[in-house]
Formats: sequence, structure tokens, C-alpha cells
Amino acid sequence: MQNRTEIRDLMPASAASLFARLADGRVHSGAQLADALGISRQAVWKQTGALREMGLDIKARAGRGYQLARPVERLDESLVNRLVKSAAVSATVVGAVNSTNQSLLEARAGHGRALLAETQLAGRGRRGRSWVSPPGSGLYVSLAWEFDCGLTRLAPLSLVVGLAAAQCLRPLSGAPASVKWPNDLFIGQAKFGGCLVEISGAAEGPCRAVVGIGINLFSNRAMGSVEQAWTTLEDHGNNPGRNRLAAALLDGLASALEQFEADGFAPFHAEWDQYDALAGLPVRVIAGQKVTLRGTAAGIDKHGQLLVRCDGQIKTVAGGEVSVRVD
Ligand code: BTN
Repeated sequence: MQNRTEIRDLMPASAASLFARLADGRVHSGAQLADALGISRQAVWKQTGALREMGLDIKARAGRGYQLARPVERLDESLVNRLVKSAAVSATVVGAVNSTNQSLLEARAGHGRALLAETQLAGRGRRGRSWVSPPGSGLYVSLAWEFDCGLTRLAPLSLVVGLAAAQCLRPLSGAPASVKWPNDLFIGQAKFGGCLVEISGAAEGPCRAVVGIGINLFSNRAMGSVEQAWTTLEDHGNNPGRNRLAAALLDGLASALEQFEADGFAPFHAEWDQYDALAGLPVRVIAGQKVTLRGTAAGIDKHGQLLVRCDGQIKTVAGGEVSVRVD
């Protein structure tokens, strides 16, 4: 039975209506917008500011009105649910939340509940970092999942999620998506997406996970604040459409999570090499601010630990609080 706890949409209704009007990418005059939305021109101007603050690229065309930097295919809850094939998944679409992961966790969302947001006001990344989430130019999706296998067996779950995302994105977009251990989504040496897996439960009993994926679809000026080398799916492949992509990601995730619970990590281990962004590259492993290991990346072991060849020996690196950089 789906848990349908309400999730509060933090995008003001007038900002959401304005976004919907502007989404076609044409120029809209302030007067037309005010008329269509039943608000004053002053209110249009205010909501334009609110959307800009969320990261939406809105241009002011002198004497003509407002226009998005590019048209946006808005997320459509009924379309996503129609496109999703997995019977376990039920998706909710909102304009804005702080973080789709956080909202599902707070709502104690049940098995298969998915949440997609046009924008996240405080998107969460791994290791306490933030995830820049401007409206329309990315995909921010989380899925709640319940497992009976105990926390101990879930250790490689974050790799499973990254692999499932890359496996779904390659055929759909044509972009050569790969996974940088443990679960960064890469094309070449630049990141275009990331996964955040948050798990709670008993070591040997029932557990719940919220798995979140963020993908950069198109460039956006808000991405300027990202420090790492980044790229977008559009720079390397075709644009499958945000709703199609969201549905395919949810299906890919659901079937990977089902397989992982049934068969463990072995089938994913077997696929890893085809998606490994680090294979054969010189890397350094960093814990906190300290470089703890330097060597050549040599795949992963059957537990999902990174293997690094160093002075003729293979060393294993467990996930958690380490990061890996290419030297
Ligand atoms: C990372 O690479 O640091 C992980 C980024 C994960 C971002 C996604 S966007 C959807 C979900 N909600 C969040 O707050 N974070 C994840």
C-alpha cells in the first residue's frame, strides 16, 4: 500500500503559473502575463525575481517582455506515471522542495514512492555538499524503497544506483555515460550527475532507503558556482525529454533495486567494467583533506570496494567518507 503523505510544494502558485506560461520559450509581455495569471504587473515582476532566484534563466527583452533562455519541457505527473512501467513505482511531481530526498525521508514515504521536483532549494549532495538544482535544466528525482535484507547487505547499494542510472541513460540519450566510483555520473572526465543514497534500518532486518539522482540536462548560469569540472547530457547526446527520462530512470532504478535484493551485488559487479570511468587512470584517494593513497584504478571487488594498484600491490578502498580524484 502506497504511503501518500502530503509533500508540501514550496513554489508559490503564481510563480508556478508564470513558469508554465514562460515554458514555451517565447517572449511574453508583462501585461499579457498579468492578464493571463490574474495578478498585477508588479506581481509578475516579483514572481519573475523569485523564479530567477531559484536559478531559472529569464531574460528581460527591452520593451517586449520576458523570455526563457530556452524552452522547457515541464514535468508532468500524469505523463510520468503513464510512462513508468514498474507497478511498484508511483511518482509525485512538485515545483519546489528543499530536497527530494529529504522530503521523502520526512514523509516516511513507502515502498516505490517517487518524488520529482522542478527545482530544489537546498539540494543535497554526497559528503555534506549541496547540489545546484535550477528549474527546468536538470532532473531531480528520488525513490523510496524498502528492503528486508538488512543494512549489512546494502553496502554496495550506492554503486547499484549509479550503474542503473548510467545503463538507462546510455541508450536513451546516446551519451557515453559512465560511473566514477562510487556513483558519480561522468562523461569523459566531467561530471553530469550524482546519486545520493540515504539508508536507515536494522543490521539484519527491514530497512528503508531513499535513492536520489540529480542530472544536468542543459547548461544554466547557476551551474557557474559548481567547483568541479561539469558537463550536461545535452552536450554529448540527444535530448530524450525530461518526462521520458524521468520515467525511464525510475523504471531502471526499480528493476535494479529488485534485482539487487534478489541476487545481491554479483550481477552488477559483472557489468561494472563497461561503465567504469576510472579504469586504468592514475588516481589519488582523499580522506578529509589528506591524500591517503596514490595509484592506478583497477576496477572494483565483489563487495563494491575500489581497487587501486600501488607499488605492485592491489589495495582496497571502501566507500563512505573518501573521495577519489584523477591525477
Ligand atoms: C553528489 O554527487 O554529490 C550527489 C548528488 C545527488 C543529487 C540528487 S538530486 C535528487 C536528490 N535530492 C537531493 O537533495 N539530492 C539528490
